[in-house]
Parts: sequence; structure tokens; C-alpha cells
Amino acid sequence: MENSGNMKNLAIPEHVAIILDGNGRWAKKRGLPRSMGHKEGCKTLENIVEQAARMGIRYLTVYGFSTENWKRSSEEVGALMQLFRYYMVRFIKIANENNVRAKMIGERSRFDQDIIDGIGRMERETKNNTGLTFVFAVNYGGRDEIVRGIRKLVADCQEGAVKPEEITEEVFSSYLDTAGMPDPDLLIRTSGELRLSNYLLWQCAYTEIYVTDCLWPDFNREELEKAIAAYNKRERRFGGAK
Ligand code: IPE
Ligand code: IPE
Ligand code: MG
Repeated sequence: MENSGNMKNLAIPEHVAIILDGNGRWAKKRGLPRSMGHKEGCKTLENIVEQAARMGIRYLTVYGFSTENWKRSSEEVGALMQLFRYYMVRFIKIANENNVRAKMIGERSRFDQDIIDGIGRMERETKNNTGLTFVFAVNYGGRDEIVRGIRKLVADCQEGAVKPEEITEEVFSSYLDTAGMPDPDLLIRTSGELRLSNYLLWQCAYTEIYVTDCLWPDFNREELEKAIAAYNKRERRFGGAK
């Protein structure tokens, strides 16, 4: 593990979730179009995936596009789709070089067919990697995920595969897009907003939250280390007493 000096003796969270935010503000500050902020944000994402893999984080789940983000201008949505197309292909190489398994969560049928195919290809071509699992949440919303999970669960109940009295929190979790993954230990949000914006609503029940004013395109290894250092100072509670 290639932790830098100040990471010594720090516990590395198993699952780090990130709400990447501030691409638009980063661009605005420079008088650039919002799409340039997203482009820079993609570069940051590549770097952070590599850093997370090196630090020994097991799961990194990053919020890239929400079910609500379709409300943005068609110009901005179009620019984001072009970035997905381009970076998904690039990312296969980066993932394989870093032993990273890439997955997407969210509802993918709303994307153009070539993007859906690209997602499938990225998942297939990285599925045997055994290091970091990188999960990109696109057209993802926590409420949407829960509703989709309930539909599948109800269908299984109707077919008799599951009895209503057998439904536990664990069973329900297995119907979510994050099935089989541990809940996030640490949730990082960049750009200062103090809200979840519909991210991993079920999974973040006891996640430690860290918000930084750093805009996503400026986020780097040092910022990630600061978040992990802050996490190390937290006293985790799961409802119990001290
Ligand atoms: C995050 O940056 C990227 C997406 C939500 C797609 P924003 O685009 O939300 O940036 P701000 O919040 O406008 O600065
Ligand atoms: C949350 O960021 C969604 C993603 C990071 C993909 P937003 O910028 O869309 O969230 P709000 O609108 O500020 O809550
Ligand atoms: Mg935003």
C-alpha cells in the first residue's frame, strides 16, 4: 500500500461514497461553460479512483448523475452524455491497470443504446479485477432505487419465491442496486452543500458524513486523505450507548 506519510496509522474505511459536486461553480469562477467543469471533473474522478485503489479502499461509490439531473438544460445533459461515452472507454484501461472492478448503479434504460452497451462492456471487461470496486451512480436516485427494489420484491412474493414474513432488512438490501456491498462508512460531499440529494438513502443510515468546500475539480489525494483523517477522529455509533 502506497500511503503517504500522513496516512500512517490511519484506518482506511472499507467503503467510501462521494457526492461529487461543484463542477459548475468551478467553471463559472473561470468564466468557462459548465461543460468544462464536468470535463475537469472527469479527470479528477480518474485520479481519485487510482488513489482510492492505492490506499486500499475496497468500495468507492461516486454519484455522477442523479434522476433529477435530467432537469438541466439539454445542452448540459448532452455534454454529460458525451463525457460518459468518452470516459467509459478510457476507463476500462485505467481500471485494468489498477485492478479495479467497475460497476454502474442506477436505472440505465433511459440512456441511449450505445451508452447502455458501453456500461455493459466496462462491467464485463473489468469484472475479474480483485482490488477496488468502483461504483458509478448514473441516473441514480435513492428513492427510485427503493421503488425499483420493491417492484422486484413484490414480483418475487407474487411468484411465491419470497414470503412477506421472510422480508428482513438484509433481504430488502439484496433487492437494491448495491446488493452484496457493505454500507458506506464515510460519505464525502464536495462544494459545501449539506444535503444528501437523494444519494444512497437506505445505505447511509449510519454513515459518517464529511463535507468540504473544495470544488470537485480541485479535489485530489490530499483532500481524500483529509477526509479519511477526519473519519478516523469520529466515534462511530450505531444507536448504542458509549
Ligand atoms: C456535479 O457538479 C456534477 C453533476 C451533478 C452532474 P454540478 O454540475 O452540480 O456543479 P454545481 O453544483 O452547479 O457547482
Ligand atoms: C447531486 O448534485 C447529484 C450528483 C452529484 C450527481 P446536484 O448538484 O444535482 O444536487 P443539488 O441539486 O445541489 O441538491
Ligand atoms: Mg451541484
